[in-house]
Amino acid sequence: MLHANWREGVTRDGRAYAFTCPATPRYHHQWHWDSCFHAIAWRHLDRARARAELRTVLRSGRADGFLPHTAFWQRWPGWRRAPLYATARVRRNAATASIGPPVLPLAWELVAGDDDAFREEGLAPLAAHLDWLARERDPDGDGLLTILLPDESGMDDSPKYDAVYGRLAHWRPGYAVLVQRCRRVGWDAAAYARRHDEHVEDVLVNVLYVLSLQAMARMSGEARWARRAEAVQQALLDRCHDPETGLFYDLAGGAERPVRVSTWSSLAPLALTGLPDDVRRRLVEDHVLHPRRYGAPVGIPSVAMDEPSYRPGFDLWRCWRGPSWVNTAWLLVPALRALGYEDDGDRIVSSLLRAAREHGLREYYHPHTGHGLASRDFGWSTLLLDLVAG
Ligand code: GLC
Repeated sequence: MLHANWREGVTRDGRAYAFTCPATPRYHHQWHWDSCFHAIAWRHLDRARARAELRTVLRSGRADGFLPHTAFWQRWPGWRRAPLYATARVRRNAATASIGPPVLPLAWELVAGDDDAFREEGLAPLAAHLDWLARERDPDGDGLLTILLPDESGMDDSPKYDAVYGRLAHWRPGYAVLVQRCRRVGWDAAAYARRHDEHVEDVLVNVLYVLSLQAMARMSGEARWARRAEAVQQALLDRCHDPETGLFYDLAGGAERPVRVSTWSSLAPLALTGLPDDVRRRLVEDHVLHPRRYGAPVGIPSVAMDEPSYRPGFDLWRCWRGPSWVNTAWLLVPALRALGYEDDGDRIVSSLLRAAREHGLREYYHPHTGHGLASRDFGWSTLLLDLVAG
């Protein structure tokens, strides 16, 4: 499947690319975090392709360290889909002007393994990327990254954004207005945040940021990355952790209102080994394994089953509102195993393997029945390989 979805070539202006498209016919382009996940799977099969895919992610960006959410290597989006992309101009864009969840340094470290040359090759551009994020996407300077658009977290239509974005939500026509606002300020997050209140310090984005900073600290040996990781982790604990429920909540707008909706993003800090054990164990006991919340028969649902907005089935217009995706388990199962919940981790992986065997590698699965939903031959569902190998 990864071979079938592989795309490589040279653009009209001479830029070489090689990546796995997430799934045809729905997704033609290169998505930032999808490619990172594909490379993590590819490393078990063909390390040259894993490296090529990550190099292409770097090539999709700018010298100042900006990396786009989506890159259009083979063709520009068609007129029907173009309005759905968060680009700098209305037409003729090579990539979006929005960002994706920052997983690249983490993926780079995993793909490099003992390949010192590849690791070294990544250090300067990855440092530029992490510095760009800190400089451009932390407008209030509290250490936590801010997203302007809901899909910058990768969880486009998550119900946690419903109240924050209202009619500007990703699944509503007003999303075009949101993109237009960003264009008007040249995608300058500080300028945007001065004028508009629809922005979020997103827990999942910041957890992935910490993991990437830690990967960078290990790859470079430079203490500054470890210090920054520590500061972001502490900010998550101080500002996003809710002692009442034990969950972590996003902070919305200038007033940093906690977004009290339980989604897998609220569980993501489980992956941060530096957080106190009792905080992580509570996430496991009270939420991940809780039979009425996330303890579903198949995978880990993307929204808690007791949330009023929870919808486990397929919805053509909205995703991330309930079904189980493989990357959710990929992030959380190693943490479960490390905390001693090996059997639960194995059970979650086996349930997804069973679903994949019966229904193929689908975009996501029904948490109660294991039914495969949305796109077929979906790239990052191959993360199952990494979960089994790990
Ligand atoms: C959907 C998902 C997003 C993913 C993209 C490509 O938009 O919400 O996370 O990156 O599809 O697979």
